[in-house]
Amino acid sequence: MSMKTITICALFAGAVAILRGQSAGPVVLQIKADQVAAHVSPMLYGLMTEEINYSYDGGLYAELVRNRSFREDPKEPVHWQLVQEGGGTGSMALDPAQPFNDAIATSLKLTVSQAAGKQRVGIANDGFWGIPVRPNTRYHASFYAKADAGFTGPLTVAIASTSTSASTGSEGATVHASGQVARVTGSWKKYEVNLTTGKAAVSADNRLVISAGSPGTVWFSMVSLFPPAFNNRPNGFRKDIMQLLADMKPAFLRFPGGNYLEGNTIETRFDWKKTIGDISQRPGHMNDGWRYWSSDGMGLLEFLNWCEDLHVEPLLAVYAGYSMRQVRVTPGPDLEPYVKDALDEIEYVTGAASTTWGARRAKDGHAAPFKLQYVEVGNEDNFDRQAGSYDGRFAQFFDAIKAKYPQLQVIATMKVNGRTPDVIDEHYYRRSEDEMASHAHDYDSRPRTGPKIFVGEWATRVGEPTPNMSAALGDAAWMTGMERNSDLVIMSCYAPLFVNVNPGGMQWKTDLIGYDTLSSYGSPAYYAQKMFSLNHGDVVLPVTAQGIPTREWQPPAPGRRGGAAAAPPQPPPALPPVQQAPTLFVNATRDSKTGTIYLKVVNRAGSPQPVRVELSGLASVQAKGEAITLSAASPEETNSITEPAKIAPVTTTVDGLGATFTRAFPPYSITVLQMKGK
Ligand code: AHR
Repeated sequence: MSMKTITICALFAGAVAILRGQSAGPVVLQIKADQVAAHVSPMLYGLMTEEINYSYDGGLYAELVRNRSFREDPKEPVHWQLVQEGGGTGSMALDPAQPFNDAIATSLKLTVSQAAGKQRVGIANDGFWGIPVRPNTRYHASFYAKADAGFTGPLTVAIASTSTSASTGSEGATVHASGQVARVTGSWKKYEVNLTTGKAAVSADNRLVISAGSPGTVWFSMVSLFPPAFNNRPNGFRKDIMQLLADMKPAFLRFPGGNYLEGNTIETRFDWKKTIGDISQRPGHMNDGWRYWSSDGMGLLEFLNWCEDLHVEPLLAVYAGYSMRQVRVTPGPDLEPYVKDALDEIEYVTGAASTTWGARRAKDGHAAPFKLQYVEVGNEDNFDRQAGSYDGRFAQFFDAIKAKYPQLQVIATMKVNGRTPDVIDEHYYRRSEDEMASHAHDYDSRPRTGPKIFVGEWATRVGEPTPNMSAALGDAAWMTGMERNSDLVIMSCYAPLFVNVNPGGMQWKTDLIGYDTLSSYGSPAYYAQKMFSLNHGDVVLPVTAQGIPTREWQPPAPGRRGGAAAAPPQPPPALPPVQQAPTLFVNATRDSKTGTIYLKVVNRAGSPQPVRVELSGLASVQAKGEAITLSAASPEETNSITEPAKIAPVTTTVDGLGATFTRAFPPYSITVLQMKGK
């Protein structure tokens, strides 16, 4: 650790001046508590989401049946098994000759050849890494079916264990809950059964079984099973994950991507009109950007309902005529249908029930329009290699949106020529804590003359599947910079938000919240964000810092973000020169209504850091305050599905505060110090 010769940097925003001194003493922070360096944007801390790492199917979307409409693989009914118990026999196959409807042009055919007495033949779904069973819980099962003339029923619907019963030796012998459909007719019809567990132990090694006890043929489609969802919403969301999000008190939700918005091709984009209405009419689509099937159960209205449940604003990203395999639509008449789609989408979100798409939303179950302020045109259009492509596409969307919805703020995904976006979305994925920390002062010197900034994706990519404490320290350093410059950086959201930690669940490493079939947890970076989101005032206070320690770090060779797929072997590129990065980061804000001062201190070093705080401009500062501290014994420490809260914030009452005081901040720690002054 070194204390550097005095130089002044980062003066632009006026919020923090770092005076690097040779002082061996404590860091000195001079905080002007009666002055305003900037205002904190009320939209600063939000969430970003897309279908990646099984975020919805197998994640937030509470549906428990995987491949429910049998479209995941055109050749075979993946995730479905034939059940033959007690000597019963039969077969199961996809049957495109018996389409379910125009959207789902196949079905699953079950042929029961032999079943009598205790014999049973049926179909079983193994869910997303199993089906969670909890005691005394009511599940809602539903499916569409039709039968040939030889079969009328009944069908038994059950949630049963996949493990072999010790007593009978037969699969599925432990039935946790079951119900019956008495009669199946010869034309497609929906059947619904409630399944209630008793004293069952919590388990994931279960499956949904629909079986018959007599011969005949039955076709199935849209087989669904829901546990109780957050706010009891039908077609709703997993409770534990929603609670983790609600606890962050975010301001907005950016959806539906990300790469998921664009798809590899135009056909595999997020085509919102195919994601609304009854789930039995949604075809689903191949999420080729992240290489797995999307049921589209999480459709446009579900995203909006999700916002409503969290009390956050939607930040709607519209498809902008570019897909990731360098497929683009030429501006002009060719692009017009996509621009119209975007206008229709905005009408679906915001229009009165008297408008065409507002009426459709009302028919889909939500009469009231949603509040919408921000619309983003595309995603990461800097990857479009055709020069000027985004300029033309953006201009066409921008003009059309502004003409019909002048009140909307339009976000561009990169710098554009020809139009001035209201906001520009910038993405920062950093490969190490030092790298992220070394950028924490970037916005201090950004000119305030251009559009506002939305940091729509960012993360310190250290740790997998979820970030460790080192990543949280890098993130927290970065957040002090965004918060200090929140007059310019008006919104931010980490990405990706979710990962299913089961084998094969992760496509992108370092994700904020992890879960498996039964439980979920927040990473240290999750807690760092929660601390920032819950503890800030409305004004940034000017801070002068002296004696900020630094450490050497080796910047990586230039390359595309951390964790990208390995490139073919090449000579190692020259490394940039070694640099110094601060190990201490601070920001101070005040709530002008309550007078509470929030001092955030990030100590990345492995030893306690004494800090002398000098508050000016206040008549008095209360001696007692509160410290919320997130710390770890080493930067590598982390949370996991088995140790979900190993690293979690601890709140303590502190004494000895005042207009001047000295306090030691623990090694590897993030602290919010709450002080009351007048
Ligand atoms: O967050 C993962 C991906 O990173 C997003 O889908 C994309 O926008 C970015 O490249």
